[in-house]
Amino acid sequence: MDQTDLQPLLDAVPLPMIHVGSDWRIAALNAPAKTLFGAAALGRHFGLAIRKPTLVDAIETVGRGAPRQVLRVMLTQAEQENRFEVTVAPLPGGGVLASFVDTTEQELVTQFRRDFVANVSHELRTPLTALLGFIETLQGPARDDAAARERFLGIMAREAGRMARLVRDLLSLNRVESQERQRPETRVDLQGLLAGVVATLRPVAQEARVVLELDASDAPEGVRGDGDQLTQVFHNLIENAVKYGGSGGKVSIRVRRLRDPAGIRGQAVEISVIDQGDGIDPQHLPRLTERFYRVDSHRSREKGGTGLGLAIVKHILNRHRGRLRIESEKGKGSSFSVLLPLE
Ligand SMILES: Nc1ncnc2c1ncn2[C@@H]1O[C@H](COP(=O)(O)OP(=O)(O)OP(=O)(O)O)[C@@H](O)[C@H]1O
Ligand SMILES: [Mg+2]
Repeated sequence: MDQTDLQPLLDAVPLPMIHVGSDWRIAALNAPAKTLFGAAALGRHFGLAIRKPTLVDAIETVGRGAPRQVLRVMLTQAEQENRFEVTVAPLPGGGVLASFVDTTEQELVTQFRRDFVANVSHELRTPLTALLGFIETLQGPARDDAAARERFLGIMAREAGRMARLVRDLLSLNRVESQERQRPETRVDLQGLLAGVVATLRPVAQEARVVLELDASDAPEGVRGDGDQLTQVFHNLIENAVKYGGSGGKVSIRVRRLRDPAGIRGQAVEISVIDQGDGIDPQHLPRLTERFYRVDSHRSREKGGTGLGLAIVKHILNRHRGRLRIESEKGKGSSFSVLLPLE
């Protein structure tokens, strides 16, 4: 077997594969394996070409007669660390065949799911613990205290409301994600939609002593989009600007048309929500659209936020083939811009 040239066989397989001959030199490797170990590996002693102690050990023991081994290794590919599951198998007549399955993506998905479940449980547990505590108090020590009962019921309503919002947002996220490949066919009146959102949020802004300023005179007519979802996008962006950037006293919403902005080809409309609050540290910016990510989780929870708002925004904009651009300067404020393509 060792005399046989395995190169044509390896070339037919899409996974990285290496044939180490019984003289311990690399007798054949296919193109995917060359991107991992370099084309110069061919003909070299395997220990010099591979340089991963655990993998070198495995090839050596299998080459000396041990049965097949499966192991996990990290390998650098295009400056990126990838995880592989490597099967090292003996060949009849001597030599060893090593094949590599890239499991990076799969492990990320698993990790993501685990984090997600942990986050959801944590987010639900906090209000649930509060509710259970107050129920116990109302059944016991505060049973006949009308004033305390009133106050506790108020807190319980707030905590139950938070749980209801969390469930609603999770379902909403799920729905948007499942529709993501299907671009909306309907058209919306952007100017009217923005005016509606501003009118709904005006009482919230007034309470926070924030002036809402809308200039949508440049809004194009009949923008392709889902009205309810775009309402959700601007509701969250303007609400965030009031909640977290309201200290500047003013939030402006501006619309303009652009040609070939970053990430979109052709005509686009840009809707910017600009606040003059404290701004956001640059380190947080790339992570803001992650589920449950909050800059100041205490403050966000206090304001009843679930931390899912911007994640939902991102998925809705993906569905619309749009973009979200976040700019912020510490002490000066933030601007969240939505870009939507126009045909
Ligand atoms: N305009 C802003 N200025 C400062 N920080 C902001 C601004 N907008 C968002 N953030 C930060 O981004 C975080 C994530 O926002 P997101 O809308 O996803 O969640 P949330 O507002 O906390 O919850 P929800 O939207 O469900 O009510 C916020 O908790 C806040 O820390
Ligand atoms: Mg929000």
